[in-house]
Amino acid sequence: TPLREEAAKKDILIGSGAINPTYLNDSRFAAVLANQFNSLSPENEMKWSFINPTEGHYNWDTLDRLVKFAEENDMAVKGHGLISGCCNPDYLLNITDPTALRAAMTAHFEAVMHRYNNKMDRWDVVTEALETQGGGLSTDNDFYKVLGSGYIDDAFHIARAADPDAKLFINENLVESLPSKRQGLYDLVSRLVANGVPIDGVALQMHITEVAPIPGVLTDMVESYKALGLEVTIAEMDVHTLDTALVTDIYGAVVDEALKAGITDISFWGFTDKHAYTWLPGAKPLMFDECYNAKGAFYATHAAL
Ligand code: XIL
Repeated sequence: TPLREEAAKKDILIGSGAINPTYLNDSRFAAVLANQFNSLSPENEMKWSFINPTEGHYNWDTLDRLVKFAEENDMAVKGHGLISGCCNPDYLLNITDPTALRAAMTAHFEAVMHRYNNKMDRWDVVTEALETQGGGLSTDNDFYKVLGSGYIDDAFHIARAADPDAKLFINENLVESLPSKRQGLYDLVSRLVANGVPIDGVALQMHITEVAPIPGVLTDMVESYKALGLEVTIAEMDVHTLDTALVTDIYGAVVDEALKAGITDISFWGFTDKHAYTWLPGAKPLMFDECYNAKGAFYATHAAL
């Protein structure tokens, strides 16, 4: 049975992120995506410089295509890229006045979120706010430089106002493997909640390298965020190693622990190792091989569901 059929029995979202709509031109790609998954999200197409490269000018075509594909195949769509660690256009980088930057954020969020109102049910509002390896906020961030740490609060307030019905997430990498970063994220999110910032959950990227997450870490995170009234999701999982047995084991262990911990929203950063379609060409990080044959990672995921 397809993954989405198993997932539906338990009311679980099983998704693929990293969907560049041009990949849909490949009919095998499109068929596996629609057959196996009940959710998708774009790769880079919603990042600011892609969708809104100059002030007031929006490239809707690619995302519209993604949304149409999702509608035709009864899939949920997650918005990804509102505030991301990269990809900000010059017009934005030239804004040094805090009030003007907040106004630009509001205009951008309203345009994007209103267009996909009722079509995208959840959003990564802020992605990679923390330093890559540490627990502190990244001070390199283009929004931090003008607004300080309050850019995160601002982003969530603006997002909630633009779409009161959507779930809003903070998306972060490596927290499952770096204890200080895990604590840093928890401290940040606790502060947001204490300050009444409208956030619904934490989206763990889970780009996993050679090392499997320590069993129990995911469960602890689910429990600690639940105590704050928040949900934990897996947003971009892949496993960066050529050791296919290890890839299989990690998929099985992570999905199994996630489901036992009560996670109901799991997405991978793509599904085929085909070079053109993965940000890690040369690695074999995903559930299907280059020819769309299911790998051990697929069967381990299926068994865990
Ligand atoms: C990646 C894309 O897959 C690449 O094509 C791009 O060059 C860099 O960004 N965390 C995220 C994603 O939130 O947006 C990133 O996507 C992968 C890491």
